[in-house]
Amino acid sequence: MRDICVITGGGSGMGLAAARLMGQNYYIIICGRNVMKLESAVEALRQQGIEAEAFPCDVSDYKSVEKLASYAKAKGRVAAVIHAAGMSPHMGEAKTIVEVNALGTIYMNNAFYKVMEEGSCIIDVASMSAYLTPKIVMPVRNYKYSIDNPSYFIKKIMKRVNIFPKKVQKGVAYGISKHFVIWFAKQDAARFGRKGVRVISISPGNFETPMGELEKEEADTYTKYSALKRFGHVEEIAGLFAFCSSNEAGYLTGVDILCDGGLVASGINPLLRKK
Ligand SMILES: NC(=O)c1ccc[n+]([C@@H]2O[C@H](COP(=O)([O-])OP(=O)(O)OC[C@H]3O[C@@H](n4cnc5c(N)ncnc54)[C@H](OP(=O)(O)O)[C@@H]3O)[C@@H](O)[C@H]2O)c1
Repeated sequence: MRDICVITGGGSGMGLAAARLMGQNYYIIICGRNVMKLESAVEALRQQGIEAEAFPCDVSDYKSVEKLASYAKAKGRVAAVIHAAGMSPHMGEAKTIVEVNALGTIYMNNAFYKVMEEGSCIIDVASMSAYLTPKIVMPVRNYKYSIDNPSYFIKKIMKRVNIFPKKVQKGVAYGISKHFVIWFAKQDAARFGRKGVRVISISPGNFETPMGELEKEEADTYTKYSALKRFGHVEEIAGLFAFCSSNEAGYLTGVDILCDGGLVASGINPLLRKK
């Protein structure tokens, strides 16, 4: 049985960088909605000697995610899952952002829970935004509904988002959805732990990716407050994904790792500064 690494959002950015690195030890299945993007990524990976294939999947559609999980299981032992697919405020409406980021994480964890075995690891990608969005905004009391009633949970989250003025709703939706990813991964560690599987969330700061490019204007003001005063390179987060999913990190679970070049550590919150 070969070891499989499934990477959502593997057609670009951090997911693709992860595929390049993880491909040295695992058979790679990359997923996303855009088939052409996935196929050209697979082509590039194969040219680098990496065994990879594409599986089109919309993470906000449970049936699609279930198909992905069963397909991966049929291919080998699902040893690592890097759930990097996500949508930023520049990429869609508030509800779609919540559905892709929050519902997508619930669906990925639930579908892969059924197929992952002892010694494997799932990484849910969150965001530094979860740390910068004020706590008072987060509808934490409603997060529990995600476990038994995801559609009710989404309704509750959207109710909170819709309190805010239209012009900030997408940003609020993103901050809440990523804060939820951290919460969900943490609480899911116990369930997965009973099977000997680890769950970690990783919160990136500003990285050079297609998504990062769309946020560049705001991000430029962010990075100036960070300790490292620059954007992260995708290889710097791919290395973290690879370490966290390896046996060397075998006792690491139920935590979020913030990888933001020291922005949150500065104590300055650019989200709250007057423009
Ligand atoms: N770059 C940053 O500065 C930054 C900062 C904080 C957090 N993050 C997080 O890091 C993760 C990776 O983002 P990235 O920066 O590498 O951006 P990216 O290159 O735009 O990657 C995002 C990927 O998500 C996929 N995707 C979006 N919606 C999907 C859906 N419904 N189903 C399946 N796949 C979907 C996209 O593929 P398709 O178009 O093919 O669907 C795309 O390949 C995201 O979760 C993002 O929120 C990024």
